[in-house]
Amino acid sequence: MSKILVTYFSASGVTENIAKKIANALGGTLYEIKPEREYTDEDLDWTNKKSRSSIEMQDVSCRPLIKKENINLDDYDIVLVGFPVWWYTTPKVINTFIESMDFTGKTLIPFCTSGGSGIETCERDLKNLYPKYNWKKGKRFTGRENEDDIKSLIE
Ligand SMILES: Cc1cc2nc3c(=O)[nH]c(=O)nc-3n(C[C@H](O)[C@H](O)[C@H](O)COP(=O)(O)O)c2cc1C
Repeated sequence: MSKILVTYFSASGVTENIAKKIANALGGTLYEIKPEREYTDEDLDWTNKKSRSSIEMQDVSCRPLIKKENINLDDYDIVLVGFPVWWYTTPKVINTFIESMDFTGKTLIPFCTSGGSGIETCERDLKNLYPKYNWKKGKRFTGRENEDDIKSLIE
């Protein structure tokens, strides 16, 4: 059986909630991607062009620092990468995370939560930025999914 690592970043808990359900449903190990500096409500204010998230998302080269934790990727075949959609794409901490490790030989599957945007732009951006990796189709979750919806992620 494939060994699954369920990684996720969540600023306000929605993605964390679904990541936990996914890890339970698939028997995966949960791994939280933690920014060195947590995002405050002010940081997350997308109506303010000068908020931290607005500034980060406008800067293509921005890579916010994340906390280093020990994970041995050798233990896993499939790595799920979960995040909230920010400005139609992946938050920059996800870029920091992907660039901090070597996922060669793994199957990578993105998943997201959002206010309504789909995952397609995120998938396109991840494939464009990291074409050497084996990306599989991902899924957007609302948080109300049942176990069957979740299991379809890795089929
Ligand atoms: C800075 C910022 C930008 C966002 N941009 C989008 C967006 O482009 N499309 C969308 O549907 N939702 C957007 N959202 C809403 C989040 O994707 C949504 O609330 C998500 O479920 C939050 O997940 P979390 O609690 O795990 O952080 C944005 C939220 C923030 C804070």
